[in-house]
Amino acid sequence: MSGNRVYIFDTTLRDGEQAPGFSMNIEEKIAVAKQLAKLGVDVIEAGFPIASPGDFDAVAQVAREVKGPIIAGLARANPQDVERAAEALRYAEKKRIHTFIATSEIHMRYKLKMNPADVLQAAVSAVRLAKRYADDVEFSAEDATRSDIDFLCQVVEAVINAGATVINIPDTVGYAIPDEFGERISIIMNRVPNVDKATISVHCHNDLGLAVANSLAAVKAGARQVECTVNGIGERAGNASMEEIVMAIKTRNDFFGLSTGIKTQEIYRTSQLVSRVTGAYVQPNKAIVGKNAFAHEAGIHQHGVLSNPLTYEIMTPESVGVPSSKLVLGKHSGRHALRERLNSLGFDLDEATLSRVFEKFKVLSDKKKEVFDEDLIIIAEEELMAVPKAFELDYIQTTAGNRILPTATVSLKRGDEVFQDSAIGDGPVEASYNAIDRITGVPGKLLSYQIRAVTHGREALGEVTVKVKFNGVTVLGRGASTDIVEASVRAYLNAVNKYIYKREGEKPVKEQCE
Ligand code: KIV
Ligand code: ZN
Repeated sequence: MSGNRVYIFDTTLRDGEQAPGFSMNIEEKIAVAKQLAKLGVDVIEAGFPIASPGDFDAVAQVAREVKGPIIAGLARANPQDVERAAEALRYAEKKRIHTFIATSEIHMRYKLKMNPADVLQAAVSAVRLAKRYADDVEFSAEDATRSDIDFLCQVVEAVINAGATVINIPDTVGYAIPDEFGERISIIMNRVPNVDKATISVHCHNDLGLAVANSLAAVKAGARQVECTVNGIGERAGNASMEEIVMAIKTRNDFFGLSTGIKTQEIYRTSQLVSRVTGAYVQPNKAIVGKNAFAHEAGIHQHGVLSNPLTYEIMTPESVGVPSSKLVLGKHSGRHALRERLNSLGFDLDEATLSRVFEKFKVLSDKKKEVFDEDLIIIAEEELMAVPKAFELDYIQTTAGNRILPTATVSLKRGDEVFQDSAIGDGPVEASYNAIDRITGVPGKLLSYQIRAVTHGREALGEVTVKVKFNGVTVLGRGASTDIVEASVRAYLNAVNKYIYKREGEKPVKEQCE
């Protein structure tokens, strides 16, 4: 199948999330999936259902709740995996089972310990089984770029005959070079006799920094689905970056003559959301979504841009939805104005969530003269992805300085009960964390701590992201405040609450604390 449309298959929630340090809880996955639907991706790969009960639940919940895109679940080429994927996808409006097996000599011999004939048979059987549960079945030949081209073509032909609707050619280890990869796609397009019955897809890893270039070379050669992730997150050096692929196809329409269904104005918001839920900040010079992507420092550039933006700008910040950081609301703004502003930022909140956001907005606007879009986005996302709060912050009081022993007193609420404790530490943040550990009885090991100012100026909201290990389980916590010690405490408490939620599953909060 060819045509001028390139389908965007987003695997942020599967290949992106499976990389160490990028894990998300179920609420975060749902929030990301809903945003991906708003962005207009064609396929959301929501997870690998057999990998764990958590992965299964995430795929099932995305399948139930997210409408619009096709929801895909990954399965190795064996009956248990395929059936588990089918079960997770049962309630999807549109579903796809994505099954894979490696076809390279090195993977077949050392990983699978299978001969090529058995691999071919397993691929065909998995596709046939998947077809019983879904019309739309994708097959991936893992490590395709290091596979023998004759064998690869044989497998592709056989799985199309078995009913595969999409054939994915992954560069699993990021080994390909653009010309060579484009040629491999051309060979498949020209040599496989039934290739017109399926869409050819590519899935490139970025080990040599060539994932986007390879994907685009494949598109030029006839591939019409690209698998990619937001911000390029993923295993090792990551996957091809969704925003770079989409904007290359759009900006260089003169070269490709192709289009995607992506609403590009949603790109920046999606990137920020993924960055926040994974705690992986986007590098400032990252193409399309980095902080400096549209900043012109050099005087000669600024002069040019002022005379005519096209001198140095090949696309506008507005086209990818970079907010203009204008003053939006203040202390006297009401609930109606807040709702309007949030709606225009793409949030459609129910009444209860809006009330919580409004309360936080009022507290913030008391502390800060100017409330920016970025501040509102942080507050709204915090509420949308909130987990049940086993512990809530009542107050903190710290003393610190370069000649005294930093101490903190923390008061936490657990239901109607109030607990207080004090501790010392290397600084006010550590002292507060020690006091929290004493209260909660779940000591955490701080693995990483990051702080950033959400907007500019001395009154800016500080956002803290922490990675904390509790009893061998690593969780990410986030917190924001105009006071950085409070933001740090809120981030740590968020991690504590997420850990308790994860440990206790869906039990009511009251039971969790007993
Ligand atoms: O990189 C890879 O080969 C994969 C497949 C499962 C598509 O992620
Ligand atoms: Zn991959």
